[in-house]
Amino acid sequence: MPSMLRLFLEQEGIEGARSLRLVMCGAEKLAAGLLAEFQHKLDADLLHMYGPTETTIAITGWLSSEAEDASHTVPLGRPSDNTQLYVLDADDRLVPPGVAGELCVSGIALARGYLNRPEETERVFVPNPFLPGERMYRTGDLVRYRRDGVLEFLGRRDHQVKVRGFRIELGEIEATLAAHPSVQQTLVTAHQYGDSGTRLAAYVRPTARSEEVPVESRAARAEQVDYWRGVFEKVDETAVPTDVHFDITGWDSSYTWEPISADDMAEWVDTTVGRILEYRPRRVLEIGCGSGLLIWRVAPECDSYVALDFSQATLDQLGQALSEAGLDHVELFRREATQLDGIGEGFDVIVLNSVLQYFPDLEYLDRVLTSACGLLRDGGVFFAGDVRHLGLLDEFRSSVELYRAPVTATVGAFRERVARGVAREEELLVAPRYFTGAVGRIPRVTGVEVMPRRGRKWNEMTAFRYDAALHVGVPGGAQPAVRVDTWLNGAEPGAASARWLTNVLVAAGGEPFGVLDWPYDRLTELQQALNDLERADDEALVGEVVDRGTAVTLGQPAASGTGIDEMERAAAQAGYRLLIDWSRTPDALDLAFLPQCEATDTGLEGTASGQDGADSYPRLVRWPDAPADSPTGPAANDPVAVRSREQRWLVLAGELREFAAGRLPGYMVPSSFV
Ligand SMILES: C[S@@+](CC[C@H](N)C(=O)[O-])C[C@H]1O[C@@H](n2cnc3c(N)ncnc32)[C@H](O)[C@@H]1O
Repeated sequence: MPSMLRLFLEQEGIEGARSLRLVMCGAEKLAAGLLAEFQHKLDADLLHMYGPTETTIAITGWLSSEAEDASHTVPLGRPSDNTQLYVLDADDRLVPPGVAGELCVSGIALARGYLNRPEETERVFVPNPFLPGERMYRTGDLVRYRRDGVLEFLGRRDHQVKVRGFRIELGEIEATLAAHPSVQQTLVTAHQYGDSGTRLAAYVRPTARSEEVPVESRAARAEQVDYWRGVFEKVDETAVPTDVHFDITGWDSSYTWEPISADDMAEWVDTTVGRILEYRPRRVLEIGCGSGLLIWRVAPECDSYVALDFSQATLDQLGQALSEAGLDHVELFRREATQLDGIGEGFDVIVLNSVLQYFPDLEYLDRVLTSACGLLRDGGVFFAGDVRHLGLLDEFRSSVELYRAPVTATVGAFRERVARGVAREEELLVAPRYFTGAVGRIPRVTGVEVMPRRGRKWNEMTAFRYDAALHVGVPGGAQPAVRVDTWLNGAEPGAASARWLTNVLVAAGGEPFGVLDWPYDRLTELQQALNDLERADDEALVGEVVDRGTAVTLGQPAASGTGIDEMERAAAQAGYRLLIDWSRTPDALDLAFLPQCEATDTGLEGTASGQDGADSYPRLVRWPDAPADSPTGPAANDPVAVRSREQRWLVLAGELREFAAGRLPGYMVPSSFV
């Protein structure tokens, strides 16, 4: 049988089996590719046999040496001796060669019937209309005679449907599509679309070769940038903002496809602006300024604000609103993020907020960081905000699919949707270690902060994204970093609660201390739900296994009191300032509580990062090293490959449509290719 033949052909040295003359193979569908491999490796003949259990193992046979054309299907061949084969239509009439029909068998090979199943026996063992007194077995297999007189298998007959009044054999369409060189496997189904009738959908698994992504990445990368430019131009050309100071057009939820609520967006803007202003910037450059959500709030605190974006439509709207508001110290440039020459220098802070997910890859991001860090003053900060966390891509997709899953969804279907969503992610997600690794890789960067987003509301930004700040060094001096000697364990039983934190803040008596492995609690419920789903069978229903309402609490504040904002508040009340690092693992945070007093009292090495009125409080902490078993794979996904593959699939779908149209009547051409 073919599965054993495959193993046989995989044996090392099989090419040396020179004395082999004939291999007999049957009982399963024999793929044309396997036959080709057989012929490539061996100098023997292959006898392909076909025979349903109700007859005998070989009522037809076909020798590979007769092959004229076995490029897409291996024929069943010709009838064995003492066997009559008929290819019949629905009215039991013989069909001409080339036309599909059911294969019926008569002759001495027939079984007497099914044991103890008289009705079933009567249904398929029927009188032979061509040989009175003989019986005939209806195989249910759909076949056709080729012009050279051999039979070809097309599929099962129960795959017959009616489309626009025509009776169609789905197997015939499948066999036609299977002849395309880029198709490895195909399945055609009919779907009922309300009043518009039945439509055919072809599901195609392309051959491995056609799935390969072209490696010419420079052009693909440029195309990716163009693609996103087009998306943003289009959104901003058509949008008419109701409030130019708070234009959240295009900020749609991945869960609902609806706009994210104004409350959630307002919190998102406030928390971002809060973080940027902590660096007390006077001169700001923003890369990818969009509708100006940050400009309206940060620029009034600055002496100059330079903003660039690659979308002209975006800048046109914003420019007009800014001049009407008299914000003359804001300068706008139409630029791509990599084009920073001549834009000014000596910036205190450069902002790249919620933009890098549209970059093609880390090489592009490296280029932007390298040029931008060259434009910062000594001690300045590059703020990459709202970065999508690569380590949480699975959780994010699971969370979205959990929210969207209908009550009747099975766990198996849910798993598939998550896997597909992850594989088809079109935006760039970056692991925090990309940023922590910037020290030494990006010139001038001497210290890095990786922080979870602030915000009390639960949404895709607060739960799955982070902010990273790269500090560029003071000339000749080491970057100041606070040394913390006492580290508590946030993962031990009883820790990581609001009460525990209050107690340790009091007990610390104003001395600096840290807490390692404080659980990242925005995902606790989701992760519990995902653990339950992981243990469930494919056939179980998602709604029976988990309570989706608890796992995905869109827009709701975290109730635990251990959220980032609450901890910062508790720290401030106890006279501490909290610095958080989220770079070691996505599941936990490391916290440093530093007394709210002069930098020199805190074990600081070197001087504080402040200069000219900038924040004089140290922000960089000597965090413990990442564990030895930390992930080492790519620090980002590959959205360019995803888009190239999607494009190749679109091209293939077009080709297949044409291919089918050239070989089948119009009503048999599938309306969608998946
Ligand atoms: C989601 S918006 C963020 C806007 C703003 N930074 C904020 O936080 O509100 C992303 C903006 O980045 C711009 N953008 C994306 N990729 C870019 C690139 N490669 N070069 C320049 N601008 C880009 C888009 O045109 C869009 O206006």
